[in-house]
Amino acid sequence: MTNSTRTRRSLVALAWMLGVLVAPAAAEDKAAQPAPGLVVSVSEPATDAGLATLRRGGSAVDAAVATAFALAVTWPSAGNLGGGGFMMILPGPGQKPVCVEYRETAPGAATPRTLADYPRLDGHLVCGTPGTVAGLALAHGRYGTLPWRDVVMPAARLAREGFVVDRALAGSLNRVLRKSPKFAELQRVFAPPPGKKKWQPGDRLVQPDLARTLATIATAGPAAFYQGPIAEQIVAEMRAGGGLVSKADLAGYQARLREPIHGTYRGYDVFGPPPPSSGGICLVEMLNILETFRLGADEAGAGGPGAIQAGSPRRWSARDAHLVIEAMRRAFCDRARYLGDPDFVRIPAHLTDKQYARKLAAQIHLERATPSETLAPDVPMAPEPPATTHFSVVDGNGMAVANTYTLENSYGCRVVVRGAGFLLNNEMTDFNRIPGRTDRKGLIGTPPNQIAPGKRMLSSQTPTLVLRDGRLVLVTGSPGGRTIINTVLCTLVNLVDYRMSPREALDAPRLHHAWLPDKVHFEALKDPGYAATVARLRQMGHAFDPRSGKQGDAHTIAINPTTGRPVGLADWRITGKR
Ligand code: DON
Repeated sequence: MTNSTRTRRSLVALAWMLGVLVAPAAAEDKAAQPAPGLVVSVSEPATDAGLATLRRGGSAVDAAVATAFALAVTWPSAGNLGGGGFMMILPGPGQKPVCVEYRETAPGAATPRTLADYPRLDGHLVCGTPGTVAGLALAHGRYGTLPWRDVVMPAARLAREGFVVDRALAGSLNRVLRKSPKFAELQRVFAPPPGKKKWQPGDRLVQPDLARTLATIATAGPAAFYQGPIAEQIVAEMRAGGGLVSKADLAGYQARLREPIHGTYRGYDVFGPPPPSSGGICLVEMLNILETFRLGADEAGAGGPGAIQAGSPRRWSARDAHLVIEAMRRAFCDRARYLGDPDFVRIPAHLTDKQYARKLAAQIHLERATPSETLAPDVPMAPEPPATTHFSVVDGNGMAVANTYTLENSYGCRVVVRGAGFLLNNEMTDFNRIPGRTDRKGLIGTPPNQIAPGKRMLSSQTPTLVLRDGRLVLVTGSPGGRTIINTVLCTLVNLVDYRMSPREALDAPRLHHAWLPDKVHFEALKDPGYAATVARLRQMGHAFDPRSGKQGDAHTIAINPTTGRPVGLADWRITGKR
């Protein structure tokens, strides 16, 4: 490390410790106003719904539930009633985090071959039994303080009265309308305002059907969704379109309270979601591998091949990027081999052991990439299309929520339940589609994640809580399919090893490798500041995905360790509000 790098790094760390690092300025200024907590999400009206809930005396979970219902209105590509997700909750200072798991399940009529001859990502057949409403109700029942109605109604109002569409949402709506001409209900519900061909920022989106659905959930409770009139609408939609979700599937759906995966990393306690998410296990496995190395150790070589160059951000050096990629490669290989719904498959306990990580670390060649296929040649994996959403909440009493939920693809299976105004997921495509069939194009057919009735499909969602000495320091997570786990990893490594401020840690270019395809996704691939690093990594045998673009959208809250003050950090990559 050069002296100037070291000095700058120390100053950044010191500034953060003292609570004076405020960027971007406008956003941080607002945080200075006394507030009973913070909400950071991708959508301004949804964040506002969460903040209003905190102001009314609600807990972080009340605010999270209000935000989640609001996102179903204001961020329809991923915010949802018809999908599922994972909510990590720190109930209060000194308490143990818990995970509310509300992943979708395969319908009772599904078989391992249900999708074998159905290559599409949309349509009724790829829809699993939705978990979101049950999950939010479970979280609220345990940790909410306001009446259920009060946390659902703000979303119903947003749907009924409408809200102003921003640039990101206008673009997203225009794209889905262009790409999904055959989904008539979607075209009707999200049609641009009368007289317009396209959505523009500033237009108003009003969703009367969704408003009615939400008002029913608010007044009649979650049973309306799983057994009552909304269940009937879902089943009618399934019948009309050849989907499998039945009355019995809906009536039998249960969200679960699960014990999080817990790991440690250089003195920090990291809590992530357990299976059926792969997020917690893979994150801890990667951190354990990386803990056996000293990251940041080679910056003395500045100017040499692959070193961080003057004027560029302090990372990635080729050596550290190599180690991180190799850790990712190994954890993702284990993901494909071992992980699935724990009610159906036995998950080996050693995956999060430090000793196992040492063994994997010892197999990493320091100068050469390990070809992925040599780790397990038979199990390639498919790339993941985008759209999920993550938000973070803390309240004034030390309760914190990291919530990631999804419809899987952007706008799920594109089916809007007729008359009910909400989209259904295409989460069944997260199962391994064709049993026993693996190919180089990206299909995997390994047993742990094959379809079975009632089984939960494997997820990568990684809402994460980080504590130090029992005190909360970070609430984070991201969308992005398999990149999710690596986005969280990058944030943690940036904070812990590179001592970046939270803002820097979120902004720094991210890396992703998922074992297969054997390609590194690197946000800064085309940044001249990283040309030498990329060249050195290529020499070592790493191949890069030429389409490397933005990775993730990690709406995060960091707690200043000195002042105890939470700071909201919206990710710049899509849009965001805190
Ligand atoms: O649960 C999962 O891992 C995926 N269905 C998430 C998909 C996703 O994140 C797409 N995102 N941007």
